[in-house]
Amino acid sequence: MDALDLLLKRCSVPRLAAPAPSGEALENIIQAGLRAPDHGALTPWQFVICEGDGLTRLSTILAEAAQANGADETAVKNAKNAPFRAPMVVAVIARTRVHDKVPTIDQHISAGCATHAMQMAAVAQGYQGFWRTGAFAYHPAVREALAVEGDDHIVGFLYLGTPDCAAANAPKRDTSQFVSYL
Ligand SMILES: Cc1cc2nc3c(=O)[nH]c(=O)nc-3n(C[C@H](O)[C@H](O)[C@H](O)COP(=O)(O)O)c2cc1C
Repeated sequence: MDALDLLLKRCSVPRLAAPAPSGEALENIIQAGLRAPDHGALTPWQFVICEGDGLTRLSTILAEAAQANGADETAVKNAKNAPFRAPMVVAVIARTRVHDKVPTIDQHISAGCATHAMQMAAVAQGYQGFWRTGAFAYHPAVREALAVEGDDHIVGFLYLGTPDCAAANAPKRDTSQFVSYL
């Protein structure tokens, strides 16, 4: 796929089926994440791959977080089912450190760039993805289960798999509404 086409036409696909990316394709996706712009070469990324039993563990973590919130039965069930919307979920964590020249926000942005690059690498190889956070990304119980502490954040749950429906057509936006010149 042409690189510019990928950049201009990328769309998310919410319905993802097996197979998940594996082998070289998955390695390429992770390597793409590891090429995110990185102020100070701090490599502030960690990718927790959930597949098979890992998805079941993630499902339990989300359901327990919903229960801890006092959610009703339907909400707990929704939380439990959420990870199974794809055959693979990659939790992307910004693992930050205090640095005198690199603010924490730069490290969070870098982890966001990594997530985007991974979604792109998936699409480039015939897979698809959907980036979600949702309230659970910020829930203390989910953070604890994924060993996310302090200023670190789960910047996304990147759902990956084979598209089970057509991607939407990317809207062509009017650049003049977003651009100004100083
Ligand atoms: C940081 C971040 C978090 C997101 N979290 C969610 C989410 O929890 N649920 C959701 O439906 N979309 C979420 N999205 C948006 C989707 O990933 C997607 O971009 C959106 O549905 C628009 O589709 P498109 O990517 O095809 O333009 C999030 C996007 C970003 C950048």
